[in-house]
Amino acid sequence: MEIYAVKINGFVNPMGLLFDTLLCSWKVRGAKGKKQAEARVEVSLDPALDTLLYETGGADLDALGVPLKLELAPYTRYYCRVTVTSDLGETAQSDVCWFETAKLDEPWTAQWLGFEDDTRHPEFGKTFRLDKAVAQARLYICGLGLFEADINGEKVGDDFLAPFVNDYEAHVQYCTYDVTPLLAPDNALRVRLGKGWWMGRFGLAGQKYPHRGFALIAELRVRYQDGSEAVIGTDGSWSCRGSVFELTDIYDGETQNHLLWAGRENPWRPAKTIDAPTALVARYSPPLHAMEALSVQEIIHTPAGETVLDFGQNLAGYVEYRQPLPKGTALTLEFGEILQNGSFYHDNYRSAKSVFHYVSDGEPRLIRPYFTFFGFRYARVSGLAAVDASAFWARAVYSDMEPVGRLETGSAKINRLHENTLWGLKSNFLDMPTDCPQRDERLGWTGDAQVFCRTAGYLMDTRGFYAKFLRDLRSDQLRCGGKAAIYLPNNMPGTTSAVWSDIAALLPDMFYDYYGSRDMLALHYPLMKDWVDSVRREDKARGEKHLWDFGFHFGDWLALDGATEQSVFGRTDDGFIASAYYHASAACVARAAALLGKAEAEEYARLAQDIRRAILGEYFTQTGRLAIDTQTGYLVALKFGLYADKARLLEGLRARIKKDCNRIKGGFVGATMMNTVLAENGLEDIAYDFLFFEGFPGWLYAVNLGATTIWERWNSVLPNGMISGTGMNSLNHYSYGSVVEFLYRNSAGIAPLCPGFRRARIAPLPDNRLAHLNCSYDSAAGRYVSGWKILEDGSVDFHIEVPFGCEAELVLPEQKPRSLAAGSYDYHIKTARDYRAPYTANTPLERLLEDPRAVAVLEKYLPDTLRTLDCSDVEAMSKSLVDQRRRAQVFRAPTEGCDRAIEAILKIRG
Ligand code: BGC
Repeated sequence: MEIYAVKINGFVNPMGLLFDTLLCSWKVRGAKGKKQAEARVEVSLDPALDTLLYETGGADLDALGVPLKLELAPYTRYYCRVTVTSDLGETAQSDVCWFETAKLDEPWTAQWLGFEDDTRHPEFGKTFRLDKAVAQARLYICGLGLFEADINGEKVGDDFLAPFVNDYEAHVQYCTYDVTPLLAPDNALRVRLGKGWWMGRFGLAGQKYPHRGFALIAELRVRYQDGSEAVIGTDGSWSCRGSVFELTDIYDGETQNHLLWAGRENPWRPAKTIDAPTALVARYSPPLHAMEALSVQEIIHTPAGETVLDFGQNLAGYVEYRQPLPKGTALTLEFGEILQNGSFYHDNYRSAKSVFHYVSDGEPRLIRPYFTFFGFRYARVSGLAAVDASAFWARAVYSDMEPVGRLETGSAKINRLHENTLWGLKSNFLDMPTDCPQRDERLGWTGDAQVFCRTAGYLMDTRGFYAKFLRDLRSDQLRCGGKAAIYLPNNMPGTTSAVWSDIAALLPDMFYDYYGSRDMLALHYPLMKDWVDSVRREDKARGEKHLWDFGFHFGDWLALDGATEQSVFGRTDDGFIASAYYHASAACVARAAALLGKAEAEEYARLAQDIRRAILGEYFTQTGRLAIDTQTGYLVALKFGLYADKARLLEGLRARIKKDCNRIKGGFVGATMMNTVLAENGLEDIAYDFLFFEGFPGWLYAVNLGATTIWERWNSVLPNGMISGTGMNSLNHYSYGSVVEFLYRNSAGIAPLCPGFRRARIAPLPDNRLAHLNCSYDSAAGRYVSGWKILEDGSVDFHIEVPFGCEAELVLPEQKPRSLAAGSYDYHIKTARDYRAPYTANTPLERLLEDPRAVAVLEKYLPDTLRTLDCSDVEAMSKSLVDQRRRAQVFRAPTEGCDRAIEAILKIRG
């Protein structure tokens, strides 16, 4: 028995975090027992935990998050240990972990420093001597827009782009670093600043922020071995001068010119103190690190005469160069996601220049940007006499989170789709969930985050990451009268849209489902409630129809049923979508209020009911038919339970899909929920058909064209390899990767029944085209496993694992549900349905025609149909043998051929 993943607020050994909640969580594995009989959490000021400061224990201690009720002191490290005894009497003790406070309410003794010259980038410096032996030293620091500090030439900490993305109108985060090992008796502390999100060009309209300037505050606190302390803070005794940075911009890139001052005066001058440019708050961002290092897969000499490096994977981050460059060498790297006609291309970055320039002074150093990042697979290199592939490495930059999901199937293409989604996440989890990492946006678009959050939760432990985003959403909302943003950092305050702004209720709801902490739900509750209240107020002002049928909405963004295939707005009525999300958000508030024991729980449940009634009145016919005949319309109604007659709705959805020739029509709203909704309403076969559809529009279309991430549009790239447009066309947009939720939640079948996955429903859905599936999900409560394999005789083997302290309701095909306690289980099931059978009578002809066995059947029994079939006629190809038979009946033609063909098709196996 082993205790693992001991975390504080979702972080491993967090240093200098903002601890306004203090929750200790852990997991147990390898136990013989099934559940916890007793648990204990101890907190101490000493690593040996000889003297305890706080202790809590009992049978009911919740491993999903035990509040540590401590009066925290500033600048203090607390040690923490968890002990668990199982119901069989086994006992395990965790490693000692820790968390350390930053300044709390302690005032800064340091002063802010500024830099008046807007035309240059500053570096600040301080030299100092430490006369006594140092026991420990911490640097508390914030530099605006971005900072990198070094002590005696060694980088402080391993963060990238600190202090990250902030709600700048409210505050910026300061970071805490352990700098003990960097100090010597004589020291030089140097801090360089870049513009970043604070003062660079940034926002939907490429906003600039001339009222914001470079600024630095830092406090080095040294504790000597004799117990005395020294504080070296920024003040007028610090120096500053121009740095080697000529340009630092999130969109445009970076120019680092190490000869900038060659032959010119650039003396260290006394630094100037300034008034605080903004408030400070202890860091609450998870660590933002340079993670994977990817080598060059190929050096391409393009028809345009360029040298382009191919890293084989689209990602967000930067390229580093690991060889010395002779003095005067000017290395330029430009970034792109795709080649066009074999040559470098990045017109889809729109106005983002995305260039890294480096001018060498001949000094050996690791060459890399400090204050920008790029979204890329390819880098165009210029300025080098010879290009040595081994000198270049791409570094993926993202918030450091623990990977929790693993999924592998018998389909290489689906495995690639999963991988592409994971890379989509990595590329867009750079401290905030962004839409894309390359063009002139890279914004925390809330709609994208909302549709993807439940997928992300299966892939990574997103607790720290989403807690940060939720805090920023709340902080922004407080300035916007309850309205929730369409993107962060918000420079369009007060603008809202359904689905996007509904993140205010839906992300806390996901957070509770996945991480199960009531304390966090309580923290997020005001964000949820204020959001719903803001829509409610507007509805009331318009006569209280209980509908959100007014205002601006993105609607079913990028759906294919809009005015044209390149239109950004879909066909589904915006008022219907918005009202459905208003209902969903109100229902989330009602649920949260009930869980938290709030008096208003009833009121919000009634509000949700009123909205539901109004939707049924406005958007359904009197007899229960949905008056909005689009895929997204039906899917939204099914997802949120908005119907009087479910069978009618399902019938409408099936018919709509047929009328749409089995093609996806939905966009950010419909397509992202489609497969889970289908599967949860008994239509998993249709969901699998969409998943495996290889053409446009479909998930495998991009995979077939060599995509390594998820594209913004279904047809971002055309079959001939040409990009379909430049206006709204990122090749690294994770939204449509939401289909991966279907793989975990439905194909593997692992879904939460109780918050934090303490109880799960495991209902795997085998499919012949996947052949087998192995999935593990290390949920907040522990690791679930669900695997299945279709055997040669058509029976299915299932392997299920339920973690310690958890229970599952297992629903295997054609079986009665079983209750499972923690443990490992294997089942061999022979169902009436033969899972080797790839086709049904309803399989469209276009699928049958891909299989020579099926073609042989058609040749034998329906030769005329086969001869006259026009393969380019999408509608004719979408018909099934059942449709053929119906048609024959209508025209009084013989149906025997169809009957025989159906019989033979149903006999095909494998
Ligand atoms: C972004 C989207 C975003 C949208 C708003 C786009 O420019 O890239 O992903 O959600 O605007 O509809």
